[in-house]
Amino acid sequence: MSTVVIPASRTYEVQIADRLPADTGERVRTAVPGAARAAILADDTVWSLYGQELEDRLAGAGLTVFRHVFPHGEASKNASVYIGILEWLSRCRIDRQDVLLALGGGVTGDLGGFAAATYLRGIDYIQVPTTLLAMVDSSVGGKTAIDLSAGKNLAGAFWQPSLVLCGCAALDTLPRETLADGCAEVVKYGVLCDPELFLHLEERGLDFDRAWVVEHCVRDKQGFVSRDEFDRGARKLLNLGHTLGHALEQRSGFTLSHGRGVSVGMAAVTRAAAARGWCPAELPGRLERLLEKLELPVRSHWPTEELEEFMLADKKWSGSRVDVVVPEELGRCGIRPMDRRELMDFMEAGCRG
Ligand SMILES: NC(=O)c1ccc[n+]([C@@H]2O[C@H](COP(=O)([O-])OP(=O)(O)OC[C@H]3O[C@@H](n4cnc5c(N)ncnc54)[C@H](O)[C@@H]3O)[C@@H](O)[C@H]2O)c1
Ligand SMILES: [Zn+2]
Repeated sequence: MSTVVIPASRTYEVQIADRLPADTGERVRTAVPGAARAAILADDTVWSLYGQELEDRLAGAGLTVFRHVFPHGEASKNASVYIGILEWLSRCRIDRQDVLLALGGGVTGDLGGFAAATYLRGIDYIQVPTTLLAMVDSSVGGKTAIDLSAGKNLAGAFWQPSLVLCGCAALDTLPRETLADGCAEVVKYGVLCDPELFLHLEERGLDFDRAWVVEHCVRDKQGFVSRDEFDRGARKLLNLGHTLGHALEQRSGFTLSHGRGVSVGMAAVTRAAAARGWCPAELPGRLERLLEKLELPVRSHWPTEELEEFMLADKKWSGSRVDVVVPEELGRCGIRPMDRRELMDFMEAGCRG
């Protein structure tokens, strides 16, 4: 078991182990000392795999346990599922001493986190991530959100969990494509700040050391979150590949996953950066080889013009400029503000190059 401490408005631990420890219930009680009731939120797939085990561990520690199961998939990250969760919490008489546990991927973590942030003006919650994306990214840092009809993640809150419990063995039941999706975010940390991580994936591909990789990524994310909890400065670097990535996800009607969008986005900005002499000429080729080894795409199927409206709708714009994260070398990136024209020229160079 390794532990990473996240210092934010609420300081908490990310505990990384192979399996959820036998004393999980006691760990929950230590993180939220006054809790008498524990409310577990999970999607149907994750509940059937891991729900009963978690429920038993919590009950074994003397907590009264409630569960709420919703249909898996991004389509559930909406206002009506969210309100349903609030109604369920109130029916269970969960009070401000109690705790909610979000067991699952990023969808469950975002829904559960936003419900915890808003129910009774905020209760404690614990993330128990079961996808690679959730372990290395969404469970850490306190961003929570649901989707609105106008777009993804448009209603949400910053609300830090009280504890994050990663049992890496859960990754063994993930479909291979979902594991690969999460790898796009792992590669992102490699390019941003962690050449050793990049090298490990180059050597091992999808057969990477689960706990070692999760711990590296959580430490990397901790570095950004502790410097900039509310996304005003350093944390923006975590958007590497995301402006184009989000546009591709939306253009595809969300048939292209987030990880695949980010993969193409990172490859494109790196090609464009190399073309301008902003990063070494060999970096795009090396990055593409790694992404392809991880079974991720590196090219967009859509002309840049068809992505423009989605890139312009990105919530990262401030006034007439958007901050684009650009690789400078392996392990270091910078931010270049661009206006609409500059952005389109840059992305065109990346998609063509
Ligand atoms: N809050 C943040 O900082 C943040 C960061 C990145 C992404 N996100 C959000 O995360 C979401 C994507 O997360 P995700 O990819 O984890 O999606 P997800 O939660 O939908 O999980 C993907 C699929 O895998 C299944 N699954 C989960 N764990 C499993 C396991 N161990 N074995 C077998 N199947 C399993 C789920 O049932 C689901 O069908 C998006 O909504 C995105 O906006 C949030
Ligand atoms: Zn992402």
